[in-house]
Amino acid sequence: MNDARRQRLLALADRLGTPCFVYFLDEVRDRVAAVRAAFGGALALTYAIKANPAPALLRSLRGVVDGVDVSSGGELTRALAAGFPAAAIHFTGPGKREAELAAAVTTGVGAIVLESREEATTCAALARARGARQPVLVRIAPDRVPAGFGDTMSGKPVAFGVDEEDMPAFLAELATHRELALVGFHAYSGTQCLKPDAIAENWAIFARCFAAAATAAATVPRRLVLGAGLGVAYHDDQQPLDLAAVAAATAPALAELRARFPQARLELETGRHLVGDAGVYLTRVLRTKDSRGVTIGICDGGFHHHLAAAGMFGMVLKRNFRLANVSAPIGPAAGTFQLSGPLCTSLDVLGRSVPLPRLRRGDVLVIEASGAYGPTASPSAFLSHPSAGEWLVDGETVVDATR
Ligand SMILES: Cc1ncc(COP(=O)(O)O)c(C=O)c1O
Repeated sequence: MNDARRQRLLALADRLGTPCFVYFLDEVRDRVAAVRAAFGGALALTYAIKANPAPALLRSLRGVVDGVDVSSGGELTRALAAGFPAAAIHFTGPGKREAELAAAVTTGVGAIVLESREEATTCAALARARGARQPVLVRIAPDRVPAGFGDTMSGKPVAFGVDEEDMPAFLAELATHRELALVGFHAYSGTQCLKPDAIAENWAIFARCFAAAATAAATVPRRLVLGAGLGVAYHDDQQPLDLAAVAAATAPALAELRARFPQARLELETGRHLVGDAGVYLTRVLRTKDSRGVTIGICDGGFHHHLAAAGMFGMVLKRNFRLANVSAPIGPAAGTFQLSGPLCTSLDVLGRSVPLPRLRRGDVLVIEASGAYGPTASPSAFLSHPSAGEWLVDGETVVDATR
């Protein structure tokens, strides 16, 4: 980090109070532009709002991304409130409740993404009752996910989507539901990947699944959604995803899809990659203490706001996020420190053996790459601490992101 950024983050912490998340809109826009440019504008871009559903951020993404993926009735409400047209919304998730499906059908979402036979039956009944014909995508769960993804949602018994091997039977039954209009297919089988070759291999698997499904259904899909799996470099030893390398590696699979389905809109669905690096978490040291040879900074922030930074969201091994002390002048490490949160559990550790130039009471620490799966993926009710502020910075303007 350079000194100008350090001072800027410190000023934001002083002005906004800690603990808080700060999301930088220009960095989100840059990331969207980078993804679009890497694929030569040939892919539509869908934002999975589960990564960060802060209302002000969502409003800012209207017109910037081509659509949004929602995974609950609450996310549907947020997407509509942010001004996304219903047609630009699709609804995924293995456990959609009947009331949520009913709301989606009534609203006229662009597609409900079917993930099981029972869901298809429920959806058909709801559409029939409303005299509607609901567009649907079918989420396919491939029989294999290449190595290299942080979390996998297929290649094993899963709640997500329809197993690739069950697709012919599923599609035959779907054809009997006249109230459902099959408009295409969807796949999201792995997330948090920093390896272009693994992403390319996965998309080749998707291309095979989409082709087999289209043949089985004797349909010409209008939409094909590629769950991207584009990752974020959270740790010091990780390199950011090389988008040019992803585009080059995935070119054969995309060319195959274009040749086979020239009429289909190809959509790249991604969450964290658009927002993860664009946000930080700022927390202040409340106390310091020495315990058995380790100097510990006890912070006002913890895993109740940021479960991922404490290593408990989609990680097998606990590794520190990139961390810095923005109150201290940039310089060599004076030692290593443990950074704990205020919660009454030994799990509440934001960093172990963190090299810092100093650690004093009142110092402000920044946890980088915190724009995705922060408050939305953390147990904020635990111990009834106040929630973290969330702020959206656009140039010189700072607004409350939660409004
Ligand atoms: C269907 C679907 N879409 C999108 C995502 C977003 O993943 P990420 O934020 O890693 O891009 C997920 C993650 O679980 C998902 O299940």
